Amino acid sequence: MSELKDKIDLNRLPSHIAIIMDGNGRWAKEQGQDRLYGHYHGVESVRNIVEGCAELGVGYLTLYAFSTENWDRPADEVNGLMELLVDTIRKEVETLNKNNIRLHVIGNMKQLPEYAQNEMQEAIDITSSNTGLNLVMALSYSSRWELVNAVKEIARDVQNGKLEADTIDAETFERFLCTTNFPDPELMIRTSGEFRISNFLLYQLAYSELYFTNTRWPDFRKKNLYEAILDFQGRERRFGKISEQVQDEQENIPTL
Ligand code: IPE
Ligand code: IPE
Ligand code: MG
Repeated sequence: MSELKDKIDLNRLPSHIAIIMDGNGRWAKEQGQDRLYGHYHGVESVRNIVEGCAELGVGYLTLYAFSTENWDRPADEVNGLMELLVDTIRKEVETLNKNNIRLHVIGNMKQLPEYAQNEMQEAIDITSSNTGLNLVMALSYSSRWELVNAVKEIARDVQNGKLEADTIDAETFERFLCTTNFPDPELMIRTSGEFRISNFLLYQLAYSELYFTNTRWPDFRKKNLYEAILDFQGRERRFGKISEQVQDEQENIPTL
């Protein structure tokens, strides 16, 4: 595994990795267990991947932990997930601090039960001066919620005369998104074999490299993360230009 890690070019790490952690339920079913068993094991992967990103020096890691649509799951599963979340954060906050990791949350926090809101807020406050990895948990998050919300706030500001409609550009718009302080993800990973975005960071993923793997989230470990990063590093990101332009630009970068 360390060989795989050694192949990673640390000067070309994705500054922001976003992950759709999928497949807990199927993993559990395959073991003859109930879905919550899969979520419990998924936490082990979260620990491992957070540690892996921190060790490499990745700046931002966003984990899609609970979507707006996930509220429609059976009540037992929703309650179990909320308890697991609170329990995990309570246990892990010390480790986050020790490893200089700063916690952020994106999503409609108001929808979470009050005890979960308080626990998250406390962990955000406790880790707020850390300067290492930024760990962003997407909780009760969906892009359509985020985008509609942004439009509402912009409309309000225009109405109040704080903003002029004609001056709105992408930069203005991005100020109204939950991710306003974070760079766009450069690499988006989805586990467990589904090829869809499921309402995740629709605006921010515009130029992300997408990586899909059949590995179920509870089986996903640093080794799998390294494979995804190596795959990312083998790609040419053109941002609409042609290959020759991109290569010229790379050659013109002054080497320090
Ligand atoms: C991802 O695993 C975790 C959450 C969505 C909370 P799933 O629970 O979606 O697992 P599958 O996709 O049913 O296997
Ligand atoms: C996406 O997974 C949401 C999270 C991983 C939190 P889902 O399992 O909810 O997505 P769909 O329903 O398969 O699209
Ligand atoms: Mg799923």
